[in-house]
Amino acid sequence: MNTVLKTLGISLVAIGGLAISNVTVAADGGALYTSKLCATCHGADAKTPIQPIYPKLAGQNAEYLIAQTKDIKDKKRTNGQTGTMVPFTMSLTDDDIKAISEWIAAQPTQ
Ligand code: HEC
Repeated sequence: MNTVLKTLGISLVAIGGLAISNVTVAADGGALYTSKLCATCHGADAKTPIQPIYPKLAGQNAEYLIAQTKDIKDKKRTNGQTGTMVPFTMSLTDDDIKAISEWIAAQPTQ
């Protein structure tokens, strides 16, 4: 099974190059955004937060989103309502944060 998947993956990369691997990253980020419950506070579209004081994230640049999410997770950023988000960041790996941030950055702002 693994060998088949690996072979398939390698073939897809060989055929499609970067385009296919980018689509895969974006899809994972969107799934993680939902499964890690980011959507419950920031909105399914990342721009309709459940509280007016919670930030709209859609379209923000990925580097910034990565840095903020890591700082909130590491409790380096503790301003405002940040504490409410900390528990939801605990299970995120660096790869998860990157994938989610790239997905958010690609969402339309309006
Ligand atoms: C319980 C609600 C809640 C959940 C769940 C939540 N957040 Fe947040 N998030 C917030 C709040 C509130 C802030 C703003 C904190 C402040 O007042 O500065 C914030 C801030 C952020 C910021 C910084 C935005 C900026 O403009 O600086 C990012 C990035 C972010 N969240 C990403 C995520 C991601 C990714 C997830 C899922 C892993 C997530 N959040 C889950 C409430 C939440």
